[in-house]
Amino acid sequence: MNATEDRPGTTGDAADRHLPVLLQRCVDLLAPALAEPGSVLVDCTLGMGGHTEAVLEQLPGARVIGIDRDPQALALAGARLARFGDRFTPVHAVYDEITEVVDEHAGGAVQGVLMDLGVSSLQLDEADRGFAYAQDAPLDMRMDSTQGLTAADVLNTYDERDLARILREYGEERFAGKIARAVVRRRAERPWDRSGELVDLLRATIPAATRKTGGHPAKRTFQALRIEVNGELEVLERAVPAAIEALAVDGRIVVESYQSLEDRIVKRAIAQGTTSSAPPGLPVEPETHTPYLEALTRGAEEADAQELERNPRSASVRLRAARRLRPTPEHLVDRGARHQTQHQIQHHAGKHTGKEDRR
Ligand SMILES: C[S@@+](CC[C@H](N)C(=O)[O-])C[C@H]1O[C@@H](n2cnc3c(N)ncnc32)[C@H](O)[C@@H]1O
Repeated sequence: MNATEDRPGTTGDAADRHLPVLLQRCVDLLAPALAEPGSVLVDCTLGMGGHTEAVLEQLPGARVIGIDRDPQALALAGARLARFGDRFTPVHAVYDEITEVVDEHAGGAVQGVLMDLGVSSLQLDEADRGFAYAQDAPLDMRMDSTQGLTAADVLNTYDERDLARILREYGEERFAGKIARAVVRRRAERPWDRSGELVDLLRATIPAATRKTGGHPAKRTFQALRIEVNGELEVLERAVPAAIEALAVDGRIVVESYQSLEDRIVKRAIAQGTTSSAPPGLPVEPETHTPYLEALTRGAEEADAQELERNPRSASVRLRAARRLRPTPEHLVDRGARHQTQHQIQHHAGKHTGKEDRR
């Protein structure tokens, strides 16, 4: 994790590369927490900086710490947001490092957290990164191309059982076992290398009769590989509780998910905070067990017809948001996620002078 100083060459204008989903709804949900001068939003998924730009334009008291694991996204968003000067801090990190990022760049609890999960249109459109099944490309799929296993490594080295498990769990693929078998058989002849060859194998393996309901035959396998390559679900499991812990009292978290596995993780973390932790049957709910979050959305919000027409990427979005009511009670603090003390949270709540957080 480090603030980006050297920026790799940009390849175009960030604003043209990705249309932010439910942009105004996200800003409106965050706005009450970001009105005070010096208030801080952590945009955990900076991408092309669309959401961050709207916050910086519409909420003049706020500054944004923008995290992305993709150096190319940081470079493009950095150029787009340069006009905001020190109101914007780009950070190259994985978002489960939010605790350390906040400690380093905010110096205490923050007023807002935004997560717009998944890949950006930039990543899908860059053919040679291998995210899109529509284009033949090297089987890479790393959001941070400087580290980790590629999709080809997964296909070439995982045993058949693990491949089937990944396809079943992360892709919800009915034909996981059959596909895993075919992948292993094919690699005995020559190693996996290109996405086009994988698409061909999937077309040949998945019965044509199921295609009417199941969409493109490669959709679920590509999703599963991307999730595995980037460790997306384990990272999110750690990140959502840590993001909630990073919030000051009255701070707000907004999360946009694009598939059910992600949404389930977000829903569970928010539900822990909005539900009483008192054992059933007590005559009076102890103060320590009352909810520490208030839900700001009724269940998950979806895109309306207007948004769908404007932005097809919004078709699968599920948006959830919550406000911190009080510090997380000691018995519920996720030890792995956050070591912030109640004292820290209270100390920073409502004290948005901006002085203590500026660098
Ligand atoms: C859907 S895009 C965000 C788009 C952004 N809201 C905008 O308006 O331009 C998601 C971004 O999050 C980044 N990302 C995904 N998972 C991440 C993680 N675990 N840590 C840090 N960045 C991540 C991706 O690299 C991608 O750039």
